[in-house]
Amino acid sequence: MNFVAALSEAAEKNLRVLEDQIAPAIGEDPFIFEACAPLFKGGKRLRPMLFLLCANCKTSTPPEKTMPLAVALELIHTASLVHDDIIDTSKTRRGVETANSKYGAQIAVLTGDYLFAKAFQLVAENNYDAQVTSTLSKLVKNLCVGEIMQDRRLFQIPTLEEYYTQINLKTAIFLSSCCRLGGIVAKTDAGEIENLAAYGTGLGLAFQITDDLLDFFGDEKVTGKPRGGDLKSGVITLPVIRALETSKKSSELREIVTGGGSVDEAIKIILETDAVGWCTARAKAHIESALVNLPFTLKTSVTLALEQIASFVVDRTR
Ligand code: FPP
Ligand code: MG
Repeated sequence: MNFVAALSEAAEKNLRVLEDQIAPAIGEDPFIFEACAPLFKGGKRLRPMLFLLCANCKTSTPPEKTMPLAVALELIHTASLVHDDIIDTSKTRRGVETANSKYGAQIAVLTGDYLFAKAFQLVAENNYDAQVTSTLSKLVKNLCVGEIMQDRRLFQIPTLEEYYTQINLKTAIFLSSCCRLGGIVAKTDAGEIENLAAYGTGLGLAFQITDDLLDFFGDEKVTGKPRGGDLKSGVITLPVIRALETSKKSSELREIVTGGGSVDEAIKIILETDAVGWCTARAKAHIESALVNLPFTLKTSVTLALEQIASFVVDRTR
């Protein structure tokens, strides 16, 4: 399933314009371009799409007011993945070799920094107001706090509450901020902006829970990432938290996940429990709460697209 299929003609056109603007936004030096361009292949463009839909939620906002920020959001997201792959020493992402694997961590750190700087250059040069820069800065700060929190607790079993804090910081706040920024740029009223942001939060929580399921049970050829990557790097996620509560082999599982043991063994134990169904039900509940928050006043085409994105988030395979 692909959420692009659900987009109206106008939204699809926006996505094509966005795609065409990514290369010029990164291209200056040929080496940097060569290092950056492959990183954008195969991305879902979910964050800029959410922003663009919310920025056009009632009436059309001119592309010159939306595109620089839409591109900036994709650049920030990609920068964060480049840094995430260094931290996790990942070799592939979106089916493509990571920057750290190809060029080493030194060049990869700087590649991420470069994309991050280009994003803020785009924002600075296009007269966005303080509410936009403040939302963006907070989102990046929260990404970093989430990542630091996760890294300080590797190979430790989080409580459900700690898990939720982490996925909120590293994923839900980003998606929520994209929706919020759309509302801000569209100059829609404050209550609606909060509702759009709440939609993004529910969507983001569901997105990350699905991501955590895919890490164990996804098809590597489709996800583009090696299976069990979280477990190998010590990130303990919801399927494990649930299985630890209900499995008869919970002490065996605990030993595997805190000691970097076999992914296949962990998967076997998780599959003997209700963890997959339980996590899926949680993701679906977050989607329900996202949808409840969608304001009634949006254009029908935008409501339909945001509803389809919500289904896509839980049904996706990559
Ligand atoms: C992927 O999640 C990673 C993130 C959502 C955030 C990473 C953030 C940083 C490294 C902070 C630095 C930020 C900037 C802007 C330079 P995941 O590891 O759960 O998913 P994965 O399986 O796709 O790796
Ligand atoms: Mg990661």
